[in-house]
Amino acid sequence: MNSLYSVGITGIGSYVPEKVITNYDLCEIVDTSNEWIVERTGIQERRIVDQSLSTSDIGTIAANKALEDSNTNPKEIDLIIVATATPDMAFPSTACIVQKNIQAINAAAFDISAGCSGFIYGLSIGFNFIKAGTYRKVLVIGGETLSKIVNWEDRNTCVLFGDGAGACILERCEEGFGFLTFDLGSDGNNGHLLIQPAGGSRLPASYETVSNRLHTIKMDGREVFKFAVRIIEKSSKEVLRKANIPLEQIDLLIPHQANMRIIQSAIKKLQLEENKVYINLDKYGNMSSASIPVALDEAYKKEFFSKGDIVLLVAFGAGLTWGATLLRWNK
Ligand code: UT7
Repeated sequence: MNSLYSVGITGIGSYVPEKVITNYDLCEIVDTSNEWIVERTGIQERRIVDQSLSTSDIGTIAANKALEDSNTNPKEIDLIIVATATPDMAFPSTACIVQKNIQAINAAAFDISAGCSGFIYGLSIGFNFIKAGTYRKVLVIGGETLSKIVNWEDRNTCVLFGDGAGACILERCEEGFGFLTFDLGSDGNNGHLLIQPAGGSRLPASYETVSNRLHTIKMDGREVFKFAVRIIEKSSKEVLRKANIPLEQIDLLIPHQANMRIIQSAIKKLQLEENKVYINLDKYGNMSSASIPVALDEAYKKEFFSKGDIVLLVAFGAGLTWGATLLRWNK
């Protein structure tokens, strides 16, 4: 990308709740087994928030860690973007609630809705605002409390999801480092494959929507699976092409953490070695927009990559949406 300066991640932090729900715990609630869940998804356990906590609460914890990591005073933040499918409420935005919590009094703040791709979308928005010279420091958060919208009686979905939050501070960085390129896309024609039907203007909350559990996640798993495998390959190849970087130069791929079989099928298609892929879904399940920032933070802290390494992030989710970015790590 032509530019006078590059934009990268200068601070990163994440948080997952302490409470662990194992596959064995789920066997007490629905007709499932540890074997089925592990074999079909790779998930062993997930984290669940205390009922009193919301997405802004855990997003704030992650944000404070990212601020500390980059030694940033909240007053320096120009923009807060929260990517979430589980906002605290319809309005005000979760980003405005986080703003209040961290007292980032000089920031603009808004939420974005792009399902599990939301964090990549958020990064691209932050990147472009900095690149355009509009802002200097942007806080991007991917945070979810999916446990609040899961139907705990539906074995098709309740075994898949977990809660968590991750955050990054974006700002100018050394030239040639940071974000190299993005690829974003959506396919609204297939949006019906993954929805939370009620609670919006189409089906406002009523006794009927509540009794029919229409405020919970409904998904056609098989179709989303096929879409995911196809799009991980397509979007990854697209960012590599745009950045003119061969696949062999990737040091680490961090894909959206939805299903081990999706990741394995996609990396087989990409012909990427398994040891170049970071996977933590066994511990957390699918945390939607939080999956990638939590994995990125974990992988960074475990030194899976360091300054100068090339990291590929790729996600897919409700919308349907997808997004990928290539980063030359600048920290
Ligand atoms: O972040 C983006 C959102 N979501 C995803 O990426 C999820 C994408 N999809 C998937 O990960 C997989 O499709 C699932 C894990 C959701 C399902 O795996 P699958 O291999 O596609 O299973 P299936 O839907 O084809 O179901 C196979 C069988 C069914 O039984 P019948 O109809 O063959 O008798 C299901 O009823 O497995 C049954 N089943 C279960 N059995 C035990 C579904 N869920 C469970 C369960 N325990 N938890």
